[in-house]
Amino acid sequence: MPAPITTPRLRLREITLADLNDIHRLHAIPEVDEFNTLGLPKDISETRKLVKRLLDSGSRIPRESYTWKIMLCDCDVLIGMAGLTPSNDKFRLGEIYYKFHPEFWGMGFATEVAKALIRFGFNRLKLHKVEAGVATGNKRSIRVLEKCGMTREGLRRKILPIRGEWVDNYHYAIVEDDPRP
Ligand SMILES: CC(C)(COP(=O)(O)OP(=O)(O)OC[C@H]1O[C@@H](n2cnc3c(N)ncnc32)[C@H](O)[C@@H]1OP(=O)(O)O)[C@@H](O)C(=O)NCCC(=O)NCCS
Repeated sequence: MPAPITTPRLRLREITLADLNDIHRLHAIPEVDEFNTLGLPKDISETRKLVKRLLDSGSRIPRESYTWKIMLCDCDVLIGMAGLTPSNDKFRLGEIYYKFHPEFWGMGFATEVAKALIRFGFNRLKLHKVEAGVATGNKRSIRVLEKCGMTREGLRRKILPIRGEWVDNYHYAIVEDDPRP
């Protein structure tokens, strides 16, 4: 079941293999990968494997993942990506992430998307808690999560393998009855 999302300025549509080139271009930008464990793709076949994995897990019932391409309302160009991974168990958890092309940073788009993912998790998937992990140096993303009403619940030391180093990670979350800005 496709799960499109709209926000005041953006449209999110689930990815297909036709988005491969755009996804590859986004993943090949060093600033986008700075706090990411994926690492820059060596070539497009590496991105193709990743996209196929995402499509596989997104096609299982129950759904193991949702991956969206993000576009401006009036344009079909990919400006970012977002995802949600539901736990599919009695804990009713879901983990979200998002990333944007740098020319679209600083306009509030990530906050708009993160809020929409949280709403999708609670309203459509009936989750109890939505979580996100963020490298402790990723100040922009930390700000995004806090603007969405997420609480920093803990620090996990040295769990993110990023460019040959083990990096610390903050765990953020929001529960279904927490206030939502
Ligand atoms: C993290 C990311 C998604 C943020 O996107 P964005 O659209 O710029 O985010 P927003 O505009 O909604 O909010 C950014 C906030 O960070 C603040 N910010 C920017 N640079 C900052 C810095 N160096 N230190 C602290 N805050 C900073 C902005 O001022 C803004 O907060 P404000 O609204 O209170 O002014 C984007 O930088 C990105 O795609 N990064 C690469 C991928 C990534 O790290 N994804 C997150 C993985 S957890």
